[in-house]
Amino acid sequence: MVKLVIKGGNQLKGSVKISGSKNSCLPIIAASILAEEPIILRDVPFLSDVKNMISVLEHLGVEVNKDEDSLKIQSNHMTRGDLPPYDLISKMRASFLTAGPLLARQGEVKLYLPGGCEIGTRPIDLHLKGFKALGAEVDVDHGSVYVRSGCLTGERIYLDFPSVGATENIMMAAVRARGATVIENAAEEPEIMDLARFLNSLGAKVKGAGTKIIKIIGVDELGGATHAVIPDRIEAGTFMAAAAINRDEIILENVITEHLKAVTAKLKEAGAVIEEIAEGKVRVDGRKCYGPLDIKTLPYPGFPTDMQAQFMAMLTLAKGTSVVTETIFENRYMHVNELKRMGANIRIEGPGAIIQGVESLSGAKVRCTDLRAGASLVLAGLAAQGETEVLQVEHLDRGYSRLDEKFYKLGADIKRIEAEERSDTSMSLR
Ligand code: EPZ
Repeated sequence: MVKLVIKGGNQLKGSVKISGSKNSCLPIIAASILAEEPIILRDVPFLSDVKNMISVLEHLGVEVNKDEDSLKIQSNHMTRGDLPPYDLISKMRASFLTAGPLLARQGEVKLYLPGGCEIGTRPIDLHLKGFKALGAEVDVDHGSVYVRSGCLTGERIYLDFPSVGATENIMMAAVRARGATVIENAAEEPEIMDLARFLNSLGAKVKGAGTKIIKIIGVDELGGATHAVIPDRIEAGTFMAAAAINRDEIILENVITEHLKAVTAKLKEAGAVIEEIAEGKVRVDGRKCYGPLDIKTLPYPGFPTDMQAQFMAMLTLAKGTSVVTETIFENRYMHVNELKRMGANIRIEGPGAIIQGVESLSGAKVRCTDLRAGASLVLAGLAAQGETEVLQVEHLDRGYSRLDEKFYKLGADIKRIEAEERSDTSMSLR
């Protein structure tokens, strides 16, 4: 088991380079199945979810070569239509994003229903509704789903909820369908736009990505391409929240400020100063960031659910009372109890969390329950008095590339310890 040991109170200063986006590269890696010529992806982040997605493709006979932060993907020798063993699928819901490309490429796919996770049941009804609308037959039994179609035919599809994954899976299935597909009430996240840019670079015809109406005209074949993944807006937002909770000033590099409007607006409302000082370079000054805030998570361009936990950590030290309301996932408050163990004053009331700012947090042994909850605990540990041990850091490694190293370079007192549990349950540290 891996843990982080953080001694709070150090000043953060200097600059940090933001890595490529996890939530953009995962669907793009899956979409590479659609091309029968080589694909080169650049700025791919070093994440366990990326490694898992590569394993999924390799199980399908796709050749993937990694060189630093680039991937070369060749799927002209694909062999199988069914996905890897359940243990690989259950590790990562995003493996389900191979369904649309496999359906488009091979006309059928058998895959396991992705399990729920700590933050919610994570259904896939909207994905399957889209596949059926395109003419596929869908059978679900004993925890797996079999989708097959002769030839997919374009259709108008309305999404009951602007699901990111369903929008992506339907787009990828539709690029080689006969005729036109229109997705209404589509998700508008920047990652959808990056996927559409990638698909169009292969020769697809996708219009309207980033708006609620996406139109896809099916094409017969797709070539190869080289594509650079957009920067990770959630990693950038996490470092902005770190400057805010520590009331420090840092510089972020490789940022698309357009993707962070909701996050920067709320930080400015709380008293932070945020300015783009050069192309992709942002100065974040959290030295006067004391304000309580009311936050409600919404689909993009609203405040992102993936930033909720990090902001909650910041608000535990605000001067006043804040209200955070999570509307996207039904169980995304797992970090609350861990923050309370560090002295935070938070109570859950229905769909909302009420946070009374306290003078200080105190270091404690806390546990990552999910990816963004883990990030919130690291932020809290940086600002807390004393030592914090963040356990089960594997959750963090799913979505952050070398997060501890990045904070260390900014001046934090943070160490990564690969501990192995002994029978007497005490920790022997190597
Ligand atoms: C993507 O998950 C992201 N993951 C999540 O990031 C992010 O939190 C989420 O979008 C929302 O922005 C990746 O891109 C790999 P959804 P996804 O389908 O696609 C319901 C992180 O921390 N829903 O938009 O699974 C669902 O239950 C992760 O980086 C249905 O009801 O999200 C949820 O309540 C966490 N039926 C809501 O929609 C469906 O068929 C949002 O889900 C699909 C979804």
